[in-house]
Amino acid sequence: MAFPASVPLLILLLTFGLLGRPGSATDFVIYSDPPTALLPGQMFHYDLTPQGIPYGPASLVMQPDCNLVLYFHGEKTWATNTSGLGDNCYLTIDSHGEAILQHNIHYPVWRSNVTSVLGSYAFLLQWNGGLGIYGPAIWSSSNAGELSDPEPSNITTDYVYYSYTVLPIGKILEYKNYKLVLRDDCNLVLLDTNTEEIKWQTNTYSPLHDCFTTLDANGELFVKHNRRDILWRSNVTSTSNLYILVLRYDAKLVIYGPQLWTTKPFW
Ligand SMILES: *[C@@H]1O[C@H](CO)[C@@H](O)[C@H](O)[C@H]1NC(C)=O
Ligand SMILES: *[C@@H]1O[C@H](CO)[C@@H](O)[C@H](O)[C@H]1NC(C)=O
Ligand SMILES: *[C@@H]1O[C@H](CO)[C@@H](O)[C@H](O)[C@H]1NC(C)=O
Ligand SMILES: *[C@@H]1O[C@H](CO)[C@@H](O)[C@H](O)[C@H]1NC(C)=O
Repeated sequence: MAFPASVPLLILLLTFGLLGRPGSATDFVIYSDPPTALLPGQMFHYDLTPQGIPYGPASLVMQPDCNLVLYFHGEKTWATNTSGLGDNCYLTIDSHGEAILQHNIHYPVWRSNVTSVLGSYAFLLQWNGGLGIYGPAIWSSSNAGELSDPEPSNITTDYVYYSYTVLPIGKILEYKNYKLVLRDDCNLVLLDTNTEEIKWQTNTYSPLHDCFTTLDANGELFVKHNRRDILWRSNVTSTSNLYILVLRYDAKLVIYGPQLWTTKPFW
């Protein structure tokens, strides 16, 4: 599908320069809103160790010949098989959750072929080496969107958090100059590490120092303490499935789901 207006296209072009640079190891998510893309010759790479377990490396390569190829531990595991079908091919995700590989601006050469309601969607290279599409967005932090530090970063902490994950006090997610931290006093804080400015927080407090965050199968994010008592909840749920919480490049925390499409189920 064509981009409906010039404003999203402008944002898309702007973010082209900021995301998914060759050699930058931090990007592995594409968004429908504000739109980003995987450009000709670019590569997404995932080689993180969520919860200390080394799953990677995985790479998604938008080859100049128009084939989109996925590698896991150096082996080719999936491809769109679209070699030679066009020039300047790039991958986006639309507002119905469909991933589309197109050439010369508007001509689709491959589609993920699953759509859902109008909304905001995310396409990602998952920790298990598969691709996944999640959405629509069901919850978002209340801070205003902005643009992250344009410098590529060598941070190796994940910026995506999946349903069933439980994380204790400490760093939860990090993307470039943004960091989500569960502090010792149980306040969940989103910081700009360049300025130390707090962008968003749950304003929770517990003297027990035993708190943790978790995202459940219905897409609800919690801060809990005392084993299971709820200090804070995002208050939005949807159908039982898999969800992701993403610390986006625009400093917003967004929960997307359910999982709409994948090349490799988690189980
Ligand atoms: C691409 O081709 C391979 C090998 O023939 C096949 O296994 C795979 O399913 C194809 N990919 C898609 C997206 O159809
Ligand atoms: C996409 O969906 C259409 C309609 O259901 C079907 O005819 C087509 O074969 C599908 N394409 C792929 C690549 O799965
Ligand atoms: C990341 O890059 C900075 C600046 O180049 C360097 O000081 C730091 O040690 C690097 N961190 C890692 C984990 O490689
Ligand atoms: C969630 O709902 C509860 C009960 O209605 C309310 O006390 C709490 O403030 C809400 N939390 C948020 C983050 O909106």
